Amino acid sequence: MIELAPSILSADFAHLAEEVRAASEGGGTVIHVDVMDGHFVPNLTVGPPLVKSLRKATDLPLDCHLMIENPDQFIPEFVDAGADWISVHQEACRHLNRTLHLIRNHDAQAGVVINPATPVDTLSEVLEIVDYVLVMSVNPGFGGQKFIPETVRKIRRLADLRLQRGLNYRIEVDGGIALDTVAEVVRAGAEILVAGNAVFGQGDPKTNAQKLLKAATEATLLKV
Ligand code: DX5
Ligand code: ZN
Repeated sequence: MIELAPSILSADFAHLAEEVRAASEGGGTVIHVDVMDGHFVPNLTVGPPLVKSLRKATDLPLDCHLMIENPDQFIPEFVDAGADWISVHQEACRHLNRTLHLIRNHDAQAGVVINPATPVDTLSEVLEIVDYVLVMSVNPGFGGQKFIPETVRKIRRLADLRLQRGLNYRIEVDGGIALDTVAEVVRAGAEILVAGNAVFGQGDPKTNAQKLLKAATEATLLKV
């Protein structure tokens, strides 16, 4: 099943509840929260207090994408604040197995993320213990960047590996997803589509979300 995960990074933070409501009316079913620490990525964003407020504003699952160093230190706090899904970067975790178990032990869905330059093979030993794999299709840190087409083959590879190994993780994609790129990632096997700029950048988030989901669903129908 295809799901749209609007990323609040491009939303108007002063009107977050309304922005999230509009995106969910347009078909968004997961709210993507980008957490950046100014070290792992060259930008700063939000932390557990915002997740706590968002938790009161929506019933949708909150997907917290941690672009931070030492994520173990903050995972319990994000779960307490209301995070349902937590993903950590392979590149940021010295003890990735431990970190993923920490997320699972807190009863959250555990995801692992790879940057554009990180091969899928670096995940071979953790694919059994993740609920989802997030393929970055831009270098993380900012919304509104250009989609990197070479990342599509990694989505395809993750879909193949899942079949070969009889696993059931879901495949999420994040970065530059818009009307002109969504069909390609869906056809490659992406199921959870993160979109920030394409939903909240300009115009009405509800209509934007509807259009994006429509394009994604049409692409699944054409999938061979
Ligand atoms: C980038 C973030 C993304 C970002 C995507 O570091 O992880 O979630 O919000 O934004 P768009 O959809 O604008 O590329
Ligand atoms: Zn993200």
